[in-house]
Order: sequence, then C-alpha cells, then structure tokens
Amino acid sequence: MEIKKLEKHEKVPMELLLLADPSKSIVEDYVAKGECFIAESKEQIIGVYVLLPTRPKTVEIVNVAVAEAHQGKGIGKILVNDAILVAKTQGYKTIEIGTGNSSIGQLALYQKCGFRIVSVDHNYFIKHYSEEIYENGIQCIDMIRLSKEL
Ligand code: COA
Repeated sequence: MEIKKLEKHEKVPMELLLLADPSKSIVEDYVAKGECFIAESKEQIIGVYVLLPTRPKTVEIVNVAVAEAHQGKGIGKILVNDAILVAKTQGYKTIEIGTGNSSIGQLALYQKCGFRIVSVDHNYFIKHYSEEIYENGIQCIDMIRLSKEL
C-alpha cells in the first residue's frame, strides 16, 4: 500500500469520503480548502484522509475513511499515524480531530493514536446535519473534539 497526496487536478474519491461524512457539500468545501491524501493498493484507492489548516500552527484531520472491504485490518491506524507525521513535517504544533459521541470505534482509534479528548461541541450534529444519524444504537448528537501535540 502506498500513501500519496492527491494533486488538485486529480478526482477526489467522493464515495470513500462520504463514508466518514454524510454531507457532500461539507465534504466538497473542506476538500477544496485542504489537502487530500489517498492510500492505493493494486491501483485501487482503499483509503483517504483530508488535512485542513484551521488556526495558526493547527491542522485538523477533517475526514478519514477506509473502503469497507479493507476495514479492520489496521489501515485506519496507518492513515491517522501518517496524517500525524505529515502535519509534524509541515511544521504544525497541534493536530485535531472530531467525531460523533456514537462513534465508539473511531474514539478508540484516535485515542490509540495519542489523541486526548479536549472538548465537546454540544448538539453539533443536530445543528449541521438535516438527517438523524445513529451508530451502535446511539444517536449521534455531540461532536467529541480530540487533540494531540506534535
Ligand atoms: N473498541 C475498541 N477498539 C476498537 C473498536 C472498538 N469498538 N473499534 C476499532 N477499534 C480499534 C481497533 O482494534 C484498532 O486498534 P489496534 O490496532 O490496537 O487493534 C484501531 O481501533 C483501528 O483499527 P483499524 O483496523 O486501523 O481501523 P480501520 O482500518 O477499520 O479504519 C475507520 C477505521 C474509522 C477509518 C474505518 O472504519 C472507516 O472508514 N469507517 C467509516 C468512516 C468513518 O467513520 N470515518 C471516521 C469519521 S470520524
């Protein structure tokens, strides 16, 4: 598997990005402003993440997704650790990520990669998404914000 930066003229893997975020308009907005990285295996895109600078010296992983057939094999962890390395190499001091209160596996993954919970954006998913989202039998209501010093 090879991870590389997607050049601006290359087509974004929208189907993959939508696995992590149901809003196409929100995805299009941060893809235009950020940097998209893809994981390729056998000429197929099997993973993606997007880095978006948010504040001075701070960058956020705004999307990370692995194709369903390849999930649970350690690729998500490789992508998050790659994002951390890229952010550090680019001179950022803090990397952030946010996920839903119902995203139990994602909360585990990010903490295993060294992120700490720093705040909760209450009602984020109610305010910003028109459809109700459920995962693990829990309604996704609040955004859990996590951060890691680089
Ligand atoms: N409890 C405890 N640990 C869990 C867990 C759970 N419910 N679910 C996952 N994990 C752990 C795994 O055990 C693994 O840790 P380990 O390496 O110490 O065993 C780690 O989380 C990551 O596993 P990995 O195989 O690398 O994850 P993945 O390749 O399936 O990728 C996602 C993770 C989230 C990127 C992937 O499932 C995905 O694309 N999901 C849909 C999109 C999405 O939700 N993106 C994130 C939006 S915030």
